[in-house]
Order: sequence, then C-alpha cells, then structure tokens
Amino acid sequence: MMRGALVGLRARHEDDIPILEDELHGDVVTASRAQGRPWRPLTPGSKQSQFAVDDAEQGHVPFSVVELDGGTLVGTATLWGIDDHSRSAHIGLGLLPAARGKGYAGDVVATLCHYGFVVRGLHRLQIETLSDNAAMLRAAERNGFVREGVLRSSAWVMGEFLDEVLLGLLAREWRPAA
Ligand SMILES: CC(C)(COP(=O)(O)OP(=O)(O)OC[C@H]1O[C@@H](n2cnc3c(N)ncnc32)[C@H](O)[C@@H]1OP(=O)(O)O)[C@@H](O)C(=O)NCCC(=O)NCCS
Repeated sequence: MMRGALVGLRARHEDDIPILEDELHGDVVTASRAQGRPWRPLTPGSKQSQFAVDDAEQGHVPFSVVELDGGTLVGTATLWGIDDHSRSAHIGLGLLPAARGKGYAGDVVATLCHYGFVVRGLHRLQIETLSDNAAMLRAAERNGFVREGVLRSSAWVMGEFLDEVLLGLLAREWRPAA
C-alpha cells in the first residue's frame, strides 16, 4: 500500500467494484463530468467496468483509495497513459460522495505524485480537469501543479461544451510533504 497522511492507495479488490460502480459511475452527472465519454448503464459484474483491473496492462495503474484509519474504501485513483519513453503520465481520482470535503483529494494527489516520481521515476505528471472543478484544481495546485493551458470547449458534458484545464508538474519542481 502507498501511504499518504490520511489515505492509502492499495490494489483494487473485487468487492470494491460494485461500490465504485454504484457511487461513482451510478451518478450520471458526476460520471459524465469525470469520464470524457458518454454515460451508459453497465450490467453488474460486467468486465467492461472502468474499475475492473487487468494486471497485465502496463500503462495504467489503478488504485483503490482507503482511509488509513480503519481501511474504509473512499474512492479510486489512477496513474494512466504512462509513457516510458518521455517518462510522463496522467493522474486521475474520484472520491465517493461521503468522502468528499475531508481533505482527502490533496492527499491522494500527493500520494500519486510520490508513486509517479519516486516509485516509477517519471519526469512529468499531468492532470486534465473541467475548468469549473474548483476542488480538483485546488488539490492539484496545492501539490505544485501549474496551469499550462485551457482546452477551450474540449469536453461535451450533459448537453454543452465545457473548457478543460491542463495542469503539469515536473519531478524537479515537486516538493513532497514533509
Ligand atoms: C474532485 C474531488 C476528488 C475533490 O475532492 P473533495 O474531497 O471534494 O475536495 P476537497 O473538499 O478536499 O477540496 C480540495 C481543495 O479544494 C478547495 N475547494 C473545494 N471546493 C472549492 C470551491 N468551490 N472553490 C474553491 N476551492 C474549493 C478545498 O477547500 C480544498 O482546499 P484545501 O485543501 O486548501 O483546504 C471530488 O470532488 C470528486 O471525486 N469529484 C468527482 C470526480 C472528479 O471530479 N474527479 C476529478 C476528475 S479530473
């Protein structure tokens, strides 16, 4: 397990999947805002679940996020699009509704940075998020991510085009929490 200050990032367990499906994918608006593709219902137990894990897939590292105190599942975190040539990757996360507003988001980003820069030896991490996702932007920026640009009208979300913000952090700029 990768340990942050408040949360841990561990392997996905089979019984995490129905909870993540229900509470994250089941919320059509949140899922549509976070996924960048059209929402569709999914049969329980489907192998097509975005939360199902293929351990052989090298470019995509999915974690389940748990509270360090007690081990309760609180969300999902992913290092994805790993490019071993340019040593870069993207990060993404989603917290269950009951786990939001507790300061976990910044801790998840910090722990993903530790995994990306220290464990994987990456040079650059990147986040794309909707420009109105204030909590995600703040969680990224407090970990040192810099806004590098706005992708205008790049995301079709529930009937309208929205802007996305691209944020980046280089290994040499990263200041791990003490
Ligand atoms: C995005 C997400 C992970 C953020 O987690 P959260 O628990 O809601 O975020 P927090 O409450 O910890 O807020 C993070 C920071 O943003 C700040 N913040 C929250 N809402 C804010 C707002 N409307 N305006 C300004 N700042 C805000 C918080 O004060 C906090 O700052 P701090 O750490 O300096 O105190 C969570 O809302 C979520 O899972 N959303 C659905 C999925 C999603 O959007 N994923 C991201 C896709 S890229």
